[in-house]
Amino acid sequence: MSSTASDRGARADGPAGADGLRHVRVGERPLWLDGPPHELFARLRAECPVHWTDKISEYPSERGFWSVTRAEDVHSVSRDWKTYSSELGGVTATRDVFPLELVQAMFIGMDPPKHDRLKMLFQYGFTPKRIAAHEPAIRQIVTDVLDKLDGRETCELVNEVAQPVVSRVIGSFMGIPPEDDIVWARLMNSMLGMGDPDLNPGGIEEVLAKDVSELFARCGRMIAERREHPTDDLTSVLVHAEIDGQKLEEHEIVMGFFLLVAAGNDSTKATYASGMRALMEHPDQRRLLREDSSLIPAAVEESLRMFPAFAHFGRTATQDAELAGTQIHEGDKVVMWYASSNRDETRFEDPDRFDVRRNPEHQAFGAGGRHFCLGAALARLELRVLFEETLARYPGMELAGTPAYVESAFINQLKALPVALGPRS
Ligand code: HEM
Repeated sequence: MSSTASDRGARADGPAGADGLRHVRVGERPLWLDGPPHELFARLRAECPVHWTDKISEYPSERGFWSVTRAEDVHSVSRDWKTYSSELGGVTATRDVFPLELVQAMFIGMDPPKHDRLKMLFQYGFTPKRIAAHEPAIRQIVTDVLDKLDGRETCELVNEVAQPVVSRVIGSFMGIPPEDDIVWARLMNSMLGMGDPDLNPGGIEEVLAKDVSELFARCGRMIAERREHPTDDLTSVLVHAEIDGQKLEEHEIVMGFFLLVAAGNDSTKATYASGMRALMEHPDQRRLLREDSSLIPAAVEESLRMFPAFAHFGRTATQDAELAGTQIHEGDKVVMWYASSNRDETRFEDPDRFDVRRNPEHQAFGAGGRHFCLGAALARLELRVLFEETLARYPGMELAGTPAYVESAFINQLKALPVALGPRS
């Protein structure tokens, strides 16, 4: 039997007597206006590492969730899919843009064995070796985008550099024509950042009514084309896949397509922008990269650690369990906060310091287990090439305005990063 919310709040405070934490609602938007609430997470790690958030005012119909904030505990949850299911309750802390049955149609929202069978269709193409073969094409995409800045003194790095690069890279994997990149980017941004008034001025209901139907209509056309004429892109893989002798249903193909395009669109972009911001704010670190460009892969890992593109993913308990001394009940939602675990002081010395020589083992791509990021090698390659080309071309780039975060406790992403380019080298 599940305990009541007030029981949970009491236990969540624990013997450390963290009175001020009892009523904290970790996912609530005001805490996230300027990126993740790092001070709060540091307190939670120290005083209440597995913390219960009761209902969030924006989502009154939801039951609340456990926040897992330490690296070791995130690791335990991530690896134990039998106790912590991806299928039972959706993958985000609060309301998903899609109803549960559509979340369950993506392999990120499935448990084994179906998860493994679907993911296997793609894993072959995403190994580090196969992904490395894309480096020349990705470098070309990045230099083409940077070439468009010639003659300019300023630009906005998120929408003028990161967005067109990531859209074209994932677009080329999926078989999206280049002229459609802009519309897919808009759809993905509004669906993933659905609570943000800039990305989505029409509000959540409009996303549900308009964007989800546009996703199905546009994707439906691509599916019909590939049924007729198979291609060698990933959309065609989904259309022609057979799991246990059965083709996927239309909604499973659409959601598989959404998963890959959304993950490709709203990930690398975030870490690139925040990493560039950190390099501009820490000229000593940027100098290290200028003097020794072989440090760039380590700078990529440090950016992933400090600025994981997804602040969290969630699971739902299939049975009662104990986690770091806290009783979890069957049916409870359990949220792994990578934005916190990546700054766990028991793993990283001086965790808030941006240090391009650290080369950390982080949890930005998940903490192991079945759902470890499919696109990790692709993301690392994109980030390395983006950093290399941007830093080589504009060694004196400076911040030229206030960076703004997407209002979200899920996507940990800047929506604007204005810069002065400085002279082109
Ligand atoms: C900075 C870049 C990226 C970060 C930080 C990131 C992070 C993550 C995380 C944390 C998960 C695990 C979710 C969970 O445990 O439930 C995940 C899963 C996934 N990622 Fe990434 N990702 C990135 C880039 C990409 C890219 C470029 C792709 C391109 C296809 C991608 C595709 C996926 C897919 C398909 C899954 C689901 C895997 C599964 O359920 O087995 N990711 N990613």
